[in-house]
Amino acid sequence: MNKRLLVRGARQMLTLRGASTPRRGAQLSELSLMDSGAMLVEDGVITHIGPSRRIENLAAARDAQELDATGRVVMPGFVDSHTHLIHGPSRLDDYEARIQGKTYAQIAASGGGIRHTMRAVRAASAKRLASDTKTRIATLARYGTTTVEAKSGYGLDEATELRLLRIARALDEDPLTVVPTFLGAHATPPEFEGNPDGYIQHLIDILLPRVALSGAARYADVYCDTGAFSLAQARRYLSAATALGLEAKIHASQFAEIGAVALALEMRAISADHLEAIGTPEMESLARSNTIATLLPGSVFHLGLSRYAPARALIDAGAAVALATDYNPGTSPSCSMQMTLSLACTQMRMTPAEAIVAATINGAHALGLAAQCGSLEATKYGDFLVLNVSDYRELPYSFGINHVAMTVKRGEVIYCDKDTPTK
Ligand code: NIG
Ligand code: FE
Repeated sequence: MNKRLLVRGARQMLTLRGASTPRRGAQLSELSLMDSGAMLVEDGVITHIGPSRRIENLAAARDAQELDATGRVVMPGFVDSHTHLIHGPSRLDDYEARIQGKTYAQIAASGGGIRHTMRAVRAASAKRLASDTKTRIATLARYGTTTVEAKSGYGLDEATELRLLRIARALDEDPLTVVPTFLGAHATPPEFEGNPDGYIQHLIDILLPRVALSGAARYADVYCDTGAFSLAQARRYLSAATALGLEAKIHASQFAEIGAVALALEMRAISADHLEAIGTPEMESLARSNTIATLLPGSVFHLGLSRYAPARALIDAGAAVALATDYNPGTSPSCSMQMTLSLACTQMRMTPAEAIVAATINGAHALGLAAQCGSLEATKYGDFLVLNVSDYRELPYSFGINHVAMTVKRGEVIYCDKDTPTK
């Protein structure tokens, strides 16, 4: 017999039912909220969702296991579409140095930053990296994430980059959906010191073909900025990647606007991420494209900067905005999409509804997974959260604490707060 789960009693059920295309403009505020809704999940997939009376009277609901969400908010699990999930130890020295006045760029230029993590990751065993990542995945689940992207980019050599992608692949659906992205062009490794063009050529000749042919990643990402790869280097790398069938993502306009947004559009990138320094013309062309504008306020907060991405202007221009944590040890050591939402609302003036849409269905679009997750609709995965609040606006409002009572992934409870009564 199939496994059936009936979710009932929710005070607010945020279905996010709507267009199958990325949400923009007024659609970003549409939660498709039901205040007396129920949902039936069969074998991990949503089969019925609608008014309680109708769903509870279905024959299939009769002997289903009940999940009592009385008085609570139920919403789709978070889709965290930008993380550097697999990374070795924390960078506490960088953190202290920044507090004392050094900038991210200064630390990177003196051999710290990404290359510091690279040294640790190269030296670490695959077993250790995988077990640390498993622990992190448990934290993600506890804070409500059900789908997560995982970039490589801390190996910067063939063996280590492939090891990182293999770890991501091995952890997929255990229990979260993990989407691997190849970020070979994250920094220039010591083997190519002073020769970033040579490293890009090496990536084009050796690594990109290996990654594409082995199916180890679906996306190729590049850090294109001052102090990182130039526009010309990023263009060569992404042209080669897309010719091999990988889809493009770009770390764009994090510190300076050097043409990375235009490159994202030229490459038909699925997302352009960061955008703190984006200019008005770039914003307008991004808004007219299908590329998702992924905003990462956690990195601005943790770096102690004050220039957040212009979310309001992007939304008002018509861009499809997504939110993600940018979880990584250098600029955003937090897995909490809830904290990301608080920053988006309080610092970037997104409304709570916009932030929720950006953190779920638009995140799913940024990973090409909108047909399977990001909203609560029949045929999608039963990936959802039961929150310890009765009004969804509490989620960003009451910041820095965990509101998740239960995280459910494909119909299985993968996290339950010990104080939450279950049935
Ligand atoms: O998205 N700035 C580029 N990459 C990461 C940081 C990686 C690191 O510092 O380890 C980011 O912020
Ligand atoms: Fe990043």
